[in-house]
Amino acid sequence: MSQELFSQIISEVRAFAQTAPSLTALQEFVVELIPTRLSYYNWTGFYMLDPDDETMLVLGAFHGAATEHTRIPVTQGICGAAVAQDATVIVDDVNSDPRYLACSLETKSEIVVPIRVNGKAIGEIDIDSHDPAAFSAADSVFLEECAEIIGEYIARTA
Ligand code: SME
Repeated sequence: MSQELFSQIISEVRAFAQTAPSLTALQEFVVELIPTRLSYYNWTGFYMLDPDDETMLVLGAFHGAATEHTRIPVTQGICGAAVAQDATVIVDDVNSDPRYLACSLETKSEIVVPIRVNGKAIGEIDIDSHDPAAFSAADSVFLEECAEIIGEYIARTA
């Protein structure tokens, strides 16, 4: 995937974040924009920690097939692992990862990137691909930049 394409998307997200009316609007913008540019991003969504119960991740804006996993304990799933470990998690073959919570039978690989506010993971961006091993270090860098823009938005508007 070309670096210019990632940079272009980042510029658009950054520009929208400057005037976004709400966090939900910013997240909806991101989940609509990214999959239209990156065809191997087959499911793109946000899970944020429940402010009343920080052991649970709650599904927010997403683009792709509906999922039964609308609330995920931080002790479960690849989604839970990313927040619990406070680190980006890439899984090349979801079916060989015992942590994996199935969303769609078509999903083959996944990347989950924490969103931090003042250094603390408070949510994440989750992407599924129908292609095996779809995500590289370049996807991590790209998504970590998106996550940073969103974390800064939350810090600025909270
Ligand atoms: N696969 C995730 C669950 C969320 S769905 O991908 C939308 C996980 O293992 O945590």
